[in-house]
Amino acid sequence: MCGIVGILGSEPVAGNILEALKRLEYRGYDSAGIATLENGRIARRRAAGKLKNLEAALDAEPLFGHLGIGHTRWATHGRPTADNAHPHLNGQVAVVHNGIIENFRALRDELEAKGHKFTSETDTEVVAHLVDDAIKSGLSPSDAVAASLPRLKGAFALAFIFEGEEDLLIGARQGAPLVVGFGAGERAGELYLGSDALALAPLTDELAYLEEGDHVVLTRQGAKFYDESNQPVARKRIRTAASAFLIDKGNYRHFMAKEIHEQPEVVARTLAHCLDLAAGTVALPFELPVDAASLPRLTIAACGTAFMAGLVSRYWFERIAKLPVEIEVASEFRYREAPMEKGGLMLLISQSGETADTLASLRYAKKCGQKVLSVVNVATSTMARESDVAALTLAGPEIGVASTKAFTCQLALLACLALAFGKARGTVDAKEEARLVAALMAVPGLIAEALKREAAVETLSRDLAKARDVLYLGRGTSYPLALEGALKLKEISYIHAEGYAAGELKHGPIALVDSDLPVIVIAPRDKVFEKTLSNLQEVAARNGRIILISETGAVDHLGAEGEEIGMPEMAPDFSAIVYAVPVQLIAYHTAVFMGKDADQPRNLAKSVTVE
Ligand code: M6R
Repeated sequence: MCGIVGILGSEPVAGNILEALKRLEYRGYDSAGIATLENGRIARRRAAGKLKNLEAALDAEPLFGHLGIGHTRWATHGRPTADNAHPHLNGQVAVVHNGIIENFRALRDELEAKGHKFTSETDTEVVAHLVDDAIKSGLSPSDAVAASLPRLKGAFALAFIFEGEEDLLIGARQGAPLVVGFGAGERAGELYLGSDALALAPLTDELAYLEEGDHVVLTRQGAKFYDESNQPVARKRIRTAASAFLIDKGNYRHFMAKEIHEQPEVVARTLAHCLDLAAGTVALPFELPVDAASLPRLTIAACGTAFMAGLVSRYWFERIAKLPVEIEVASEFRYREAPMEKGGLMLLISQSGETADTLASLRYAKKCGQKVLSVVNVATSTMARESDVAALTLAGPEIGVASTKAFTCQLALLACLALAFGKARGTVDAKEEARLVAALMAVPGLIAEALKREAAVETLSRDLAKARDVLYLGRGTSYPLALEGALKLKEISYIHAEGYAAGELKHGPIALVDSDLPVIVIAPRDKVFEKTLSNLQEVAARNGRIILISETGAVDHLGAEGEEIGMPEMAPDFSAIVYAVPVQLIAYHTAVFMGKDADQPRNLAKSVTVE
């Protein structure tokens, strides 16, 4: 999704804005722009496509202003052209925007009737006109922003600069995150705005987050925050660890490859946070917000890969803790008007903690009197702050648009949660707890083993890159993994893929099977292993091409031709965390063979802050 940067600096800011925008690239974008104040006049450079195009525009016509805003745009209203790229200008005002102004059409009609002329197809431009109109009516720039914000409907974050105002940068937040950064040391007195802490990490680690409905007026005297009723408020300054994370690819060609290979370490870190490794027991670093023993049901909502993590965890919560689970994609859940008995628990799962639909589900659940537990990777995210308890995955920043290490860390944390619920509900005794904790503690080492199978995956992927369609099958926790495999392949290679429960094959998808269709089967040695193998006979009988991801040598039991990605032996309980790895590697290498950009696939955004 779009990224916002603003700098009220003490030296030319365009270079630092560009660098900060590079740190927001991971969110996904298709055009970019920067505006600075040059001797009191707004000047801007914009370009369609990647930031290198904007960089070239800046090289050709540099900007030297000490105050500026920058933006990476993920197109919603209007094509990804230079004309639609932000910042948008009108009169005295330049604005950048993340999110959607839902009532832009009505506002635009109103402003056009007053004689305003629009030059883009975006919803954003209406904001520049609205604020400029308020200035022309006699308001100061900050009063004009304060007067205009209540007229905007939707979820958004905004940053403004104004012609003739060398000492004024304004930010506003309603539904999309925005953070203020405070310069220190040789940057003392500088102030920043950013979509997230990562964007500002090289500039500062001292931040204050805007709350919902806030706007902030930045001058070289400091930051003044106002709440949604335009009353001055104090917002806490915090120190963030974001700057400790180096956002580079190391020796890897893509962030996605680096993040896949980080998994032994980050999953171990997440597990160590939730387990007492010496005692071999579960030891969550937070109190459960409900009485787990009497909890009647758990409701889960999430999107995309985080939803797949939720689907896997349903098997664990039900099997280990005997806790009934209802799970739904958040974009449906938020509008379903599901009745929720007071006192229940809602579990949200999100890497970013900012996904609009998941956040809306959180707020719906709170309205229904639920306690809210969120599993998030960004500690300062909106979901973390609005939940009764935020359970943190310790994956570190995930830059590749395709979620990999965040997924396995979510699984690790959810496994620990299932175990904690099992203990509290008396469905797991001390012996079983010790066995399950041992199984979990083995996971990071098994992931490292699975990564050693990369060469085999690469060979296979060279061939898969020629496929038009791919089918993924699995049973039990391998069924959501099959869905995840198909999602991952689709999003970065653009090959059409479907995930199915292996037992469903004969109810329809078998019609697709022929010798051209690769069928990837995820089949750890668990209690449904034999059942899965027998489903494969149905594929073999129709000359389907079977690719079995299973314990090394399992293919010999197939009784039919098949290729194998051999996995290490392991206890079946949490094998999904380990089997996620070859699934990710297949998507990654296939995309690379096809020459696709695995980190920034077309049309996708990392953090989906619009509906
Ligand atoms: O930040 P979140 O975990 O809430 O994001 C949810 C999905 O947008 C995300 O998992 C998406 O499906 C990924 N691109 C999948 O790789």
